[in-house]
Amino acid sequence: MSVLFVLFSASLLYCSAALPYPYNTSYHIDCGGQSPSTEIYNVTWLRDLFFSGGAFGYVSEPLHFSNEVEKTLRYFPISSGKKNCYSVPLPSGRYYIRTFTVYDNYDGKSHPPSFDVSVEGTLVFSWRSPWPQGIHRDGAYSDLFAFVKDGELDVCFYSIATDSPVVGALEVVQIDPLSYDSARTGDGYILVNYGRLSTGSEQWGPGFTSDPDPFGRSWQSDTQFRNQNSKSATTITTKEKISGTDQAPNYFPMKLYQSAVTTMGALEYELSVDAKVDYLLWFHFAEIDSTVKKDGKRVFDLVVNGMNVSRVDIYKEAGGGFAAYSLNYTVKNLSSTVLSVRLEPVTGYPLLSGLENYAVVPADMSTVPEQAVAMRALKESLRVPDRMGWNGDPCAPTNWDAWEGVTCHPIQNNTALVITQIDLGSQGLKGYISDQISLLSNLVNLNLSSNSLTGALPDGLCQKSLKGLDLSNNQFSGSIPESLTSSNLQLVLLNDNLLEGRVPEELYSIGVHGGSIDLSGNKGLCGVPSLPDCPLFWENGHLSKGGKIAIALSCLFFIGIVVLVVCIIYIRRRRNYYDFALPQDLISVAAKRNRYQRQKSLMLLEMESQHAKGLSSIPLNQ
Ligand SMILES: *[C@@H]1O[C@H](CO)[C@@H](O)[C@H](O)[C@H]1NC(C)=O
Ligand SMILES: *[C@@H]1O[C@H](CO)[C@@H](O)[C@H](O)[C@H]1NC(C)=O
Ligand SMILES: *[C@@H]1O[C@H](CO)[C@@H](O)[C@H](O)[C@H]1NC(C)=O
Ligand SMILES: *[C@@H]1O[C@H](CO)[C@@H](O)[C@H](O)[C@H]1NC(C)=O
Ligand SMILES: *[C@@H]1O[C@H](CO)[C@@H](O)[C@H](O)[C@H]1NC(C)=O
Ligand SMILES: *[C@@H]1O[C@H](CO)[C@@H](O)[C@H](O)[C@H]1NC(C)=O
Ligand SMILES: *[C@@H]1O[C@H](CO)[C@@H](O)[C@H](O)[C@H]1NC(C)=O
Repeated sequence: MSVLFVLFSASLLYCSAALPYPYNTSYHIDCGGQSPSTEIYNVTWLRDLFFSGGAFGYVSEPLHFSNEVEKTLRYFPISSGKKNCYSVPLPSGRYYIRTFTVYDNYDGKSHPPSFDVSVEGTLVFSWRSPWPQGIHRDGAYSDLFAFVKDGELDVCFYSIATDSPVVGALEVVQIDPLSYDSARTGDGYILVNYGRLSTGSEQWGPGFTSDPDPFGRSWQSDTQFRNQNSKSATTITTKEKISGTDQAPNYFPMKLYQSAVTTMGALEYELSVDAKVDYLLWFHFAEIDSTVKKDGKRVFDLVVNGMNVSRVDIYKEAGGGFAAYSLNYTVKNLSSTVLSVRLEPVTGYPLLSGLENYAVVPADMSTVPEQAVAMRALKESLRVPDRMGWNGDPCAPTNWDAWEGVTCHPIQNNTALVITQIDLGSQGLKGYISDQISLLSNLVNLNLSSNSLTGALPDGLCQKSLKGLDLSNNQFSGSIPESLTSSNLQLVLLNDNLLEGRVPEELYSIGVHGGSIDLSGNKGLCGVPSLPDCPLFWENGHLSKGGKIAIALSCLFFIGIVVLVVCIIYIRRRRNYYDFALPQDLISVAAKRNRYQRQKSLMLLEMESQHAKGLSSIPLNQ
């Protein structure tokens, strides 16, 4: 039996060693870093990339930090806008995302900033001044697992009051999409790390030691999380191989199971949490005490917040010693900010190798994708200044204000957000209105007044939803599009632009039906009361349809006359032939005479007219 088991575990190990980790996308960005670097643990760091704005800073006590990348940082002063982002292009998938946040009085103001951080439009971290002293000086890592579905990871920073958010490093590692039981729970949530403990060991993993973890996870020591009663727990370690580790989908590293703690009595942990969301707990076990050789020798109950969750017999569940066994449990409806975990002995003493605790944060609503596309196009075309912070998702997260000057609303079934209002009056804008504005199908009010915008009003400007349109005091040119006649429009201010041409009649009727409309101060609008009549055949700087028809008709008429005259002459001449059937030479003489006569009469007319103009008369040459 034991021989069989050894063979089995050896083959498992062989398999896991033979299969390389199949997810190969990762970025390690040294925020504020000016050049790429490789740190002591062989991680290659990129210079600062993919940020929307801000400036770089340097910690005040660089010798205090062992890792080069921890010494530089990027900060986002309010002049770069209230919201700034790192937007990293990635294949869609699931990612481990880690930030390093450091202040260390880099700005000499002794005021660590208050700010929020979102990932893919969902609020994940909140930093509030004052920070705990240790973090203020040393900085801190924070990490989570999130799905990226749109080919770009957005990590955004939102300034509270006028503080400047800071970030020291950003790491992104692709992970197995099925990890952490997502097949059961779906992809509509983010798992935020609230404690990832490797019991009986020091902090280890990428960024801290050269111990590998394919997901990039680092593992903390458990000592500070142990309850007072468990402070004196005993550490057990082994160098033996542990079977069932480094396997899809979770790739838990073997090192996690090579140390454990045990205690005579109950083993207790206390984890601090925020009470608003659910928490996902993962427990890791492996029987690494070689004196435990059969089922039933070590049995204990797992109790979470006083609830008996499961009875555990590691040897039995793992199918032997030196084999990994993990189980998960979701804690719901928390009533306090402490999550307590107890391993209560039944037979022998409890043993624990690792414990992970994740806040299960439901993904926030985000902007309907095509409207987000339209807003990005408008940001470009209107040349919205950086200070307005038009970065990341226009509307999400819902806890934050939308882009400055933008108002959003959830759609009816609360699954997404749409743009209902844009107020960018008097912002010194110098661009034009992108055609993509036609994608904003829920826009109710648009105010771009008192800027220096140019170009034509796009055809798709007017949605059915649009009620108020204030484009006054710009340099818009061309004509008012026929489509600008939505029956819902109640306010149309186009005054003081360079518009010309005929005003669509339905547009004018807005004023008649109790709305307000101002078309004054334009270059050449016409055709409705209070404006000049439009030139008959001239409209919008071109020939009107009527004009074209008129010209076509007069051409036809003229051609008709010419044809008629030619016909008459021809018929006359033919009649001559028949009437006066002259002999051959007489015909030619007559023809000559005819020609002559005509010449003479033309010349005569000419003479007469020149004479009339006071020119000397030329004697007629008979
Ligand atoms: C990464 O993996 C994908 C398949 O998962 C493969 O198509 C791609 O070539 C790999 N890229 C690199 C750089 O190895
Ligand atoms: C880093 O890489 C170098 C060369 O590839 C190797 O010699 C060294 O042992 C590695 N260091 C660590 C900590 O893995
Ligand atoms: C705890 O629950 C398990 C089943 O999940 C059960 O077998 C065990 O007896 C329970 N322990 C106590 C003390 O009730
Ligand atoms: C996680 O827990 C759930 C519910 O207890 C269970 O159905 C699921 O199989 C567990 N997943 C793993 C990978 O253990
Ligand atoms: C949590 O609370 C909700 C309502 O607030 C309730 O429907 C649900 O049954 C509770 N779940 C548990 C596990 O107590
Ligand atoms: C919510 O409404 C939108 C359209 O308004 C629709 O496309 C989407 O499928 C709806 N989602 C759900 C979950 O009902
Ligand atoms: C548009 O914005 C300007 C200032 O930004 C404001 O004065 C004006 O009243 C607004 N127009 C409407 C119709 O509200």
